[in-house]
Amino acid sequence: MKIEKVDFGTTKEGTPVDLYVLTNSHGVVAKITNYGGIVTSLILPDKNGKMEDVVLGFDSLSGYLQDDVPYFGAIIGRYGNRIAGGKFSLDGQEYTLAQNNGPNTLHGGLKGFDKRVWQAEEMRSEDGVGVKMHYLSPDGEEGYPGNLSVDVVYTLTDNNELIIEYSATTDKPTVVNLTNHSYFNFTGNTKRDILDHKVMIKADKFVPVDEDLIPTGQLQDVKGTPMDFTNAARVGQSINADHEQIKLGRGYDHTWVLGEPGQMKLAATVYEPATGRYMETHTTEPGVQFYTGNFLNGQMVGKGGVTYDYRYGLCLETQHLPDSPNQPQFPSVALRPGETYSAKTVYKFAVK
Ligand code: GLA
Repeated sequence: MKIEKVDFGTTKEGTPVDLYVLTNSHGVVAKITNYGGIVTSLILPDKNGKMEDVVLGFDSLSGYLQDDVPYFGAIIGRYGNRIAGGKFSLDGQEYTLAQNNGPNTLHGGLKGFDKRVWQAEEMRSEDGVGVKMHYLSPDGEEGYPGNLSVDVVYTLTDNNELIIEYSATTDKPTVVNLTNHSYFNFTGNTKRDILDHKVMIKADKFVPVDEDLIPTGQLQDVKGTPMDFTNAARVGQSINADHEQIKLGRGYDHTWVLGEPGQMKLAATVYEPATGRYMETHTTEPGVQFYTGNFLNGQMVGKGGVTYDYRYGLCLETQHLPDSPNQPQFPSVALRPGETYSAKTVYKFAVK
């Protein structure tokens, strides 16, 4: 296993950025930059041993510096997904956040963790090779209270796992919900949309949303709806179904409920029949946002000159439920001084 650090250019402000190339002994490669903690490439074998990239992104930093990049591969924070009205109250204080999604706050605000330069450090352990990213989000950034000290450790193992471990501490009460926004496409080098991928999500309930994709506050049974992935199903099977939630989501853009936070469990599997590539997602998080790239529209030209069209990638963003700061019935996302936020997600790759 090895780690190589290469120059990845400079931001518009002139800050140098690096790319960490992690390689395991099976030749699996994960490339991760300290700009946004972005996983830029993940190179995996298909059932014939053909090595191809299975995530969406760009060949160079300039791609990621464009406006309106839809969070390809990035660490999302301080709060993944939406906070209604860009407001929440905690311990009797009301906070107003940067609104960047209509009236709501999405994925941390105008300049979330996906657009910050992180301090990075190479890591080697018995488990694998990795990179530890650190970011200090100052008190008041994007409207969030407290200096939040965040660590994210990526590890590539010899079992073909990409492990992401998140931790954070604060000096004032705040809210935290970190995730990674990788778009997977297991056809390899993004040959077509993800509608033939077969997905299983181990959840009996999902979080229904309104027209702004804000949770209604209820949980709904998946049974008898197009949201039922308890048995592996083709993504395209019901993605255009005449169903209220499918219409509001423009496809799948919902959180499935996995259970209590803190316990490691299988959340989802993905299988791509043409290449045999298979992924398991395990997490300690209470939810997973399954998003089918419904906002991709052919505007972004990515790696190798491929145009990222409608539904060309799928995300399994392990996280707390959206808008939890305003939904007291959802598991708490509050973090107070003296406490440590921690979460872990394992993406495990194989062929079948
Ligand atoms: C998340 C959201 C989607 C969309 C994408 C980014 O998955 O739930 O609605 O905003 O991020 O384009």
